[in-house]
Amino acid sequence: MVKAAGKQSCGRLVFASFLALLAFGLIADFLWASSHRFSSSAMLSLPSSVTTVVGKLPPIEKDSSNKKKKKDDNGRERKLSATFQDLPAPQLHWEKMSASPVPRLDGAAIQIRNFLYVFAGYGNINLVHSHVDVYNFVDNTWGGRFDMPKEMAHSHLGMVTDGRFIYIVTGQYGPQCRGPTAKTFVLDTDTNTWSDFIPLPVPRYAPATQLWRGRLHVMGGSKENRHTPGLEHWSIAVKDGKALEKEWRSEIPIPRGGPHRACVVVDDRLFVIGGQEGDFMAKPGSPIFKCSRRLEVVFSDVYMLDEEMKWKVMPPMPKPDSHIEFAWKVVNNSIVIVGGTTEKHPETKKMVLVGEIFQFNLNTMKWYVIGKLPYRVKTTLVGYWDGQLYFTSGQRDKGPDDPGPRKVIAEMWRTKLILNP
Ligand SMILES: *[C@@H]1O[C@H](CO)[C@@H](O)[C@H](O)[C@H]1NC(C)=O
Repeated sequence: MVKAAGKQSCGRLVFASFLALLAFGLIADFLWASSHRFSSSAMLSLPSSVTTVVGKLPPIEKDSSNKKKKKDDNGRERKLSATFQDLPAPQLHWEKMSASPVPRLDGAAIQIRNFLYVFAGYGNINLVHSHVDVYNFVDNTWGGRFDMPKEMAHSHLGMVTDGRFIYIVTGQYGPQCRGPTAKTFVLDTDTNTWSDFIPLPVPRYAPATQLWRGRLHVMGGSKENRHTPGLEHWSIAVKDGKALEKEWRSEIPIPRGGPHRACVVVDDRLFVIGGQEGDFMAKPGSPIFKCSRRLEVVFSDVYMLDEEMKWKVMPPMPKPDSHIEFAWKVVNNSIVIVGGTTEKHPETKKMVLVGEIFQFNLNTMKWYVIGKLPYRVKTTLVGYWDGQLYFTSGQRDKGPDDPGPRKVIAEMWRTKLILNP
């Protein structure tokens, strides 16, 4: 372990060694980045531990001028491409559809038949939406905007549907890095009317949420400070948008807490996929709850609950992936996941977005990388209609050579979905 806190010598050591990696027979790069100093003044704390990154290392570009160069003990220069975590993926033909009425980041989406209900989200870091936009896959138009209840959270919601009623659980209330509310609502999509639902025992930020065996399940997410992973798991019996019990009951905690994972029920089994521990937090004392970067750990873990009510470890994702809570669809017994964020860059500590589509085939329990997105993008909202995979919203990368997050988007894209049988 290399630790150089307090030493001002720029003794940044990069120790790189190549190992044969188990997955994909690729090459792993172990990198010790020490005493890295963050450019953001919002950075409050640094990890004292070693950052280890295992991932794919494509050929290093010689000409990328703005990449940071580091010297090892022998004075040789070496740099790690910002794009080192991109995976080889088939090129797809993408068609640009009409853009959503507003750009949104960290929104939520639920598809019911040919409608994609798109909720809430940040327009920018100081502005949050409090309405729903609806996309119609039949005529490919947006419309039907309606307001959310004033007390409903604006981002990082837990959300699930039974095909008519949409359950909306907790989430972050307000812009910047404000904390979550425990308030919970139900939308009847036949009448577009809202009702209150029994609040979660405590507020949760971006919890994993699903309907399973007649119960609404809510688990993980972050605690009130946005950063500390919660392991708790609750459920409550529901039917037709109403609770059948007076209170939430505790269930088996999830193996790893934290926000931003996909939570999917297929064939009577509940899966939680990817996600992270840690997230941005409000700067202490900031009257506007200004977001300040905290380091997160992104994971590729996949866990499953079945009738035994014990968590089982499933094959991991091809790479760590987070910010995917509404970025998935189930098609032909496969879970398809679009974009996200992966582990931060080990040198710059910058967030790294994901530009691939993944398939988890539940017939074979195998993961595949099935295509490239038009760009890397996180917190996309995904739908599927008539053979086409759609995504809208989220935050895209800075460009092909820079996987860091930049623009919050309203764009809607589609491509023909091609799955591995
Ligand atoms: C799903 O399965 C049906 C029936 O076998 C097939 O026609 C269709 O092409 C499949 N869809 C995808 C996206 O693979």
